[in-house]
Amino acid sequence: MTKNLKAKYMPKTEPHHRFLRACQGLPTDRVPIWIMRQAGRYLPEYMQVRREAGDFLSLCKNPELAAKVTWQPIERFGLDAAILFSDILVIPEAMGMGLNFGSGEGPILEPRIDAPGDVGRLRVPDPEKDLHYVMDAIQAIRALLEDRVPLIGFSGSPWTLATYMVEGGSSRTFSRVLGMLHERPEVMQSLLDRLVTAVTDYLNAQIRHGVQAVQIFDTWGGVLEQDEFLNVSLESIQRIIAGLDRIGPDGMPVPVILFAKGCGAHLEAMAQSGCQVVGLDWTTDIGQARERVAGKVALQGNMDPGLLRAAPEEIKREAERILRAYGPHPGHIFNLGHGIAPDCLPERVAVLVETVRGFSFSES
Ligand code: CP3
Repeated sequence: MTKNLKAKYMPKTEPHHRFLRACQGLPTDRVPIWIMRQAGRYLPEYMQVRREAGDFLSLCKNPELAAKVTWQPIERFGLDAAILFSDILVIPEAMGMGLNFGSGEGPILEPRIDAPGDVGRLRVPDPEKDLHYVMDAIQAIRALLEDRVPLIGFSGSPWTLATYMVEGGSSRTFSRVLGMLHERPEVMQSLLDRLVTAVTDYLNAQIRHGVQAVQIFDTWGGVLEQDEFLNVSLESIQRIIAGLDRIGPDGMPVPVILFAKGCGAHLEAMAQSGCQVVGLDWTTDIGQARERVAGKVALQGNMDPGLLRAAPEEIKREAERILRAYGPHPGHIFNLGHGIAPDCLPERVAVLVETVRGFSFSES
């Protein structure tokens, strides 16, 4: 009797989805897989919906079409998690900057942030109002998913967002943003502080509206010198993680995945940031990484996205090498080490997903 009552009224904290279980380091029937930038230009069905929407940003702002493209790679490949279709740069736009995805040359943010007054003019968005289309997309996606796979929300890290805001778009040299960091550190700090508040509010709103895990992308953390990565980028990420609501509206824990490209040397520090999962790029051996942080965090990764251009047998061999390098331990989520390229062939992606889905240690 007591046991039954307990079973009925105890909060349900152990998830059944293999992706969420792996995030918590719980055993799974097989290694879950999803792919960074899984919804995108390499899929002809995505290009069709993007044409219907008009352009990329209009697609992000149309909840029904955003839900449709979120679902496409799950339907085609049988992936284990969906990721919200949006972009990290909707935050600077909601803070008051003009955002344009010009054809070919990448995103343009204007006017770029330079003087202290520019930072002062940036507003901290109210996500329910200024980013309501993201919240509507989350609800539309959850309805479409019908709990078949969990939904991952995301944001850029303050440092990575700052690179786009100060450079006015993508950069090869990062000279303006590094110049600000070194020559006017107080301006950089006030920009990062504002972004910490904006990103914390934004991710908490995503959680309230139903995302079941969140990933923080620090795509440009690797541009920073070692101490700077720890004191500037990771420090601001830690403040965000400390401010997140870690239990979703369904009573389940919401794991945080930290992906910082080019930061394998800082694995131990990232594992102590409060996140549950560290995403690895392809330059770190995942077996050695596991030994460094075993029991502290789960690991996500880490195939070189460029290898998806290789022959099917080579893709299979590399995926199996990574699975064996991590070994038969819980807490591995298979992914690429960075986003999938637009010129990738969907058939090659299918080879990768089938290899991971079909892999078992008992047969190897
Ligand atoms: O499927 C998914 O992963 C979800 C959607 C998603 C997009 N961008 C869609 C997108 C996610 C998670 C992002 C994150 C993002 N956006 C990052 C961090 C991850 C990374 O790749 O490093 C960054 C740095 C951005 C900024 C950004 N968005 C750039 C520099 C560009 C232009 C370069 C490019 O790849 O075209 C984008 C555009 C973008 N974001 C596209 C998509 C599908 C392509 C837009 C199109 O359809 O033309």
